[in-house]
Amino acid sequence: METKISEIANGIYRLSTYVPQIAPPAGFTFNQFLILGDEPLMFHTGLRKMFPLNRDAVSRIIPLERLRWITWGHYEADECGAMNEWLAVSPQAQLAHGYTGCNVSVNDMADRTPRELKDGEVIDLGGGKRVRYIDTPHTPHGWDAGVVYEESTGTLLCGDLFTQLGDGPALTDGDIVGPAIAGEDLFKYSGLSPNMGATIRDLAKLAPRTLALMHGSSFSGDCQAALHALADDYDRRTADFRQAIMEGKNA
Ligand SMILES: [Fe+2]
Ligand SMILES: [Fe+2]
Repeated sequence: METKISEIANGIYRLSTYVPQIAPPAGFTFNQFLILGDEPLMFHTGLRKMFPLNRDAVSRIIPLERLRWITWGHYEADECGAMNEWLAVSPQAQLAHGYTGCNVSVNDMADRTPRELKDGEVIDLGGGKRVRYIDTPHTPHGWDAGVVYEESTGTLLCGDLFTQLGDGPALTDGDIVGPAIAGEDLFKYSGLSPNMGATIRDLAKLAPRTLALMHGSSFSGDCQAALHALADDYDRRTADFRQAIMEGKNA
């Protein structure tokens, strides 16, 4: 396996590792994002067992000692499994996650105390980069779920939202909604909840210019339209689920 590096927005690097053994023949990518600034921030730690690959990739961009912030969307192995490995090689680094995630998991599991972020709180990275943390509980899954938004580039780092198969280009303006619907059909990874459509529509109000997907190509087309289409699809799934329960069917 190799980890490919691409700059998907000004000062935002995508570190992508393709695993052909997952969901063959298309395969599956795991992506971390490094946002440069006076205080560089990494979104997702990557799997613990992929740490050597990701460590080497980050060190091709910045010295590991410069890494200052490490954050992610929700508590799962691909999002944060390597947190303590990163803390061990980056003495300045501090973890940052939302209130729920810190109090349910991270305070106990992390080797250093995390910074607890309020919904909407901004970490100013310096160099013009500002990263806003946004709670999205249970969207797409996880009580502690959240996303981050880099304000200067309009980049929404949307974690598992739009999860799709394949090893596409680092950045695309092609369709990401159809492949995301296919990904949901295959994995059924979202914890469908009544608030899911509304939560995704709230993200569209940010009017992002780039969507940085954890599993799939980053997207530089009409991001608001893509988010609205995804929200509509989850509303449809939730309505179908509710209808199936009313009819006594196994959804
Ligand atoms: Fe996840
Ligand atoms: Fe993920």
